[in-house]
Amino acid sequence: MRPLSTSVLNSCALTLQQPTIADTYAAKELPIAQAGLLANIGPDGAKSSGAYPGVVIASPSTSNPDYLYTWTRDSSLVFKALVDQLIAGGGPAGSMSSLIDMFVTAEASIQQVPNPSGNITTGGLGEPKFMINKTAFTAAWGRPQRDGPALRVTTLLTYAKWLLQQNNTSYVTSTLWPIIQLDLDYVASGWNLSTYDLWEEVYALSFFTSAVQHRALREGSILAMTPGHSDLSNSYSLQADRLLCFLQVRGNVAHLSDSHVRQSFWNSTSGYIVANPGVQRSGIDANTILASIHTFDVDASCDATTYQPCSDKALANLKVYVDSFRSMYTINSGILENGAVATGRYPEDVYQGGNPWYLTTFAVAEQLYDALVVWDKQGYLSVTDISLDFFRMFDMSISTGTYTTSSSVYGTLMCAIRSFADEFVAINANYTPSDGSLAEQYSRTNGTPVSAVDLTWSYASALTAFAALEGQTPVTWGAQGLSVPSMCYIPVSVTFNVDAMTVFGENIYLTGSVPALSNWDPSTAIPMSSVNYPIWSTTVSLPADTPILYKYIRKDANSVMWESDPNNAFTTVESGSQTLDDVWR
Ligand code: NOJ
Ligand code: NOJ
Repeated sequence: MRPLSTSVLNSCALTLQQPTIADTYAAKELPIAQAGLLANIGPDGAKSSGAYPGVVIASPSTSNPDYLYTWTRDSSLVFKALVDQLIAGGGPAGSMSSLIDMFVTAEASIQQVPNPSGNITTGGLGEPKFMINKTAFTAAWGRPQRDGPALRVTTLLTYAKWLLQQNNTSYVTSTLWPIIQLDLDYVASGWNLSTYDLWEEVYALSFFTSAVQHRALREGSILAMTPGHSDLSNSYSLQADRLLCFLQVRGNVAHLSDSHVRQSFWNSTSGYIVANPGVQRSGIDANTILASIHTFDVDASCDATTYQPCSDKALANLKVYVDSFRSMYTINSGILENGAVATGRYPEDVYQGGNPWYLTTFAVAEQLYDALVVWDKQGYLSVTDISLDFFRMFDMSISTGTYTTSSSVYGTLMCAIRSFADEFVAINANYTPSDGSLAEQYSRTNGTPVSAVDLTWSYASALTAFAALEGQTPVTWGAQGLSVPSMCYIPVSVTFNVDAMTVFGENIYLTGSVPALSNWDPSTAIPMSSVNYPIWSTTVSLPADTPILYKYIRKDANSVMWESDPNNAFTTVESGSQTLDDVWR
């Protein structure tokens, strides 16, 4: 627990009533959310009969919508909240640890279940949801969803780090690490592939997915050093660096001298993070708010490299996101331009009527509380060109610059932003029914609960927002001091097939205009496989979105024969993989 410093509270006390609506609601709702969450975990949860031990149901709702399944994303976020509680409580807390151990056992067996995304080695880890008895869900679905394994890594790693502090090395090494490693290997080898987003609708790149994957790889590389897997540690950190490039600047910076640097996730014109680049939508989405709170690291200051909650980009993004719902929902009408409003997944959403969600509105509050903790800790806040519009909500005459605790501007802003954060909690409070239950959504027209009842993730989002309101911060993960590598190399996998007849003693090789293709040097050209003769094949990792020239060459013991001119030319895809089918010329 780390309450905001008394200087901030005192200056706020002048303008705020004590306690606020948010404080009162949090005190009443916290035990309800805690009980509601636990009721949805097998085998003893009151609302989850039939769920196997450690299995989290998304909601007890069995129709419109049917959520009686276990999603890797929801479950991991729910148990992350519980692990954070265990750690904040100082442990050891017997019943909480045994519940977490049940989750570990459940996830270990779910990992191994062959499913429509594949088996354990062929992509099955990306399967989004399973039956609550841990068998595969086989109907059509938006799969794979590549955030799940990364979120599970973060939950299990957080638990592992705490256990190591208690000197419980054997459970970490023999039980947790093998599960974590499977997920990390999945993330390390496929972070640049398309995925269904966290809302299970869009098959593209997703900011949330990339951000939580980056975190998983980064903290995975740190933990891998502990059991002595230095080779793994190096490969995870290499992939984490590449992914950080990808989060900041997509496109190949290293191999091109022109300004072929494309910013994909950051829309600098309108100042927000584009959730799914290339998709026909605004890209304004709670995806990005959730990414910021779930990659919060209190030691990383307001670093925009990882879009920390108090970074200028994340604050600008928060404003654009919140503003997009002002005129969208009837229940938001009449609220002042700088007041809090109910928010949903994204403005274009139509699912179950396209309503505000509890968990997204809590997430906005949580991002702001996280920001306040960091400003308070460092004793200053900075207003940049990027975050100016955000800060103008609280002080119309503010200009860019750094404001320290000694300035009155600092106190005024801290207080106003604290009260802005509280208002988001108060909005959810206003639309929480008297029994305290939290569904998935509430009606955009009259605020009554809509869609799945008792959504486990809604309860978890309340718990983490309340913890943030109290000034608690989750365990750090290594975001401090990161910088985007100067060489940004985004790899994609390219398979070259060429139909070429050869005589005995001849082999076909590939060479071309980039280092991975031997820079046109025939002596180090890439040998191709003739397993499917007369088709010769090889698969090479190449920089994404890069124009490439290449040729096949024919070599025998004494000579090299090149294909006829001109060079073959193509541009690599922006992410994922591609195949080229050629005929020898
Ligand atoms: C639909 C949500 O869009 C998705 O994020 C969630 O995993 C499932 N419901 C289950 O809660
Ligand atoms: C030399 C080779 O002779 C030629 O065929 C190839 O196209 C070039 N290198 C690359 O421009």
